Amino acid sequence: MRTLDDLDVKGRRVLVRADLNVPLDGETITDDGRIRASVPTIRTLVDRGAKVIVCAHLGRPKGQVKPEFSLRPVARRLGELLGQDVVFATDVVGPSAQGVAEELQEGQVALLENLRYEPGEESKDDATRQAFAERLAGLAELYVGDGFGAVHRKHASVYDVPRLLPHAAGGLVVAEVEVLRKLTEATERPYVVVLGGAKVSDKLGVIANLLTKVDRLLVGGGMAYTFLKAQGHEVGGSLLQQDQLDQVRGFLNEAAKQGVDLVLPVDVLAATHFAEDAPYDVVEATAIPADRQGLDIGPKTRELFAGKLADARTVFWNGPMGVFEFDEFADGTRAVAEALIGSEAFTVVGGGDSAAAVRKLGLPEDGFSHISTGGGASLEYLEGKTLPGLAALED
Ligand code: 3PG
Ligand code: MG
Repeated sequence: MRTLDDLDVKGRRVLVRADLNVPLDGETITDDGRIRASVPTIRTLVDRGAKVIVCAHLGRPKGQVKPEFSLRPVARRLGELLGQDVVFATDVVGPSAQGVAEELQEGQVALLENLRYEPGEESKDDATRQAFAERLAGLAELYVGDGFGAVHRKHASVYDVPRLLPHAAGGLVVAEVEVLRKLTEATERPYVVVLGGAKVSDKLGVIANLLTKVDRLLVGGGMAYTFLKAQGHEVGGSLLQQDQLDQVRGFLNEAAKQGVDLVLPVDVLAATHFAEDAPYDVVEATAIPADRQGLDIGPKTRELFAGKLADARTVFWNGPMGVFEFDEFADGTRAVAEALIGSEAFTVVGGGDSAAAVRKLGLPEDGFSHISTGGGASLEYLEGKTLPGLAALED
C-alpha cells in the first residue's frame, strides 16, 4: 500500500475517509476514541499544506437525512482535538460540500455531513454506488483511506472512490494492518482469543477460522448463552440465537477435534430483568432459572478466564463479557481487561465496544499492546477475508 509519504499533497484537495462513528447521547459524544485515532493523519496532511476534506459515517441512517445522525457534534470535537476550526458542510456532495471544497485554503480542514445520508454510499448496485462515488471524488484531487473501522464495507467512500483518485493509506490503517498481520503470521503461543458481545451470528466466520489457529477460545457475553443452550442447558430469558444452535454445536465438536480449549462461563449474574438496578443472583451457568436472564459472567468465571489468560503470549479480545454499560454488570468485562493489562502477552483489543468499555471503566489504554478502532473490520481480517477498503488501497 502507498502511504502518505508517497503523495504530494501541498496545495491539493485531499479527501480523507475516516471512521468517526462514535457513540452519542443526544449531541454528547460519550467516547471520542475514534476521533482521536483519526487526528494524526489529518494533522500530517494539514502540516504538509493540504486542503483536507474529511468524510465519514455515523450510525445507520440508511440513505435518509435524519438529524440525530448528523456529524456536526463530531466536527466540533475534531476541531477541539486539532486545535483549529473544522468547517462543516451540511450536505455530502451537494452545494454546501462543493462550496466548502472550493473555498478551502491550504492547511484548512472540512468535514462533510454523514455519508450514509446518501443512498449511493451503501448501495449494492455497482452503478448507483459508482455514480455517487464520482460526485464524491469530484470534490478532491487525492484520496487517503484512513477509516479502518469501515474497511470491511464495500461502500462508495471506502471501495469505489480510491479507484477514481490517486490514493494512499493513512497512518491509522497502516498501523492497524501491521498489528493484525502480526496476529495472523507470527503468533507466539499460547494464543488465546476472548469473544463476547451480543450476537454469535456476527462471529461465525471468525470462530470457524480461529478454531484452527488458537490454543484457547474463551466465550462470554450474550453469545455465551447460545453455547450453553447448545450444550443442553436452560438459559432462561438470556439472549439466545435459536437459529445458530446447530452451527454452535458444530463449533463445540470442532474444538474438541482440534484440541482447542473452548471455555464457557461456569456461573453468571442472573437478573430479574434488563435494567441497571435489576436484582440478581449468582447462579451456576448450567442452572439459570427460567425467569432470569444472565447479564454478566459470575465471579468463578472471572477467575477461570483470568487463569486461562495468565500464561498467554498472544491475546485477541473482542466483545464485552456482560452489559458493561450498567455498573452492576461490568465486572466480567473489567476482569478480562485487567487480566490483559497485567499480562506480558501481545494483547490486542478489537472493536468499538470493547475499546469503549476499556475507556468507560477508566482503565489505562496503554495497558494493552494495541486497541483497534475496528470491530467488524478486525474480525473479518482475522477471518481471512479480503477487505474491500484494503483491496482498493492496494491496487
Ligand atoms: C463500526 O462501528 O464498526 C464501523 O464504524 C462500521 O460501522 P457499521 O458496522 O455500521 O458499518
Ligand atoms: Mg460496529
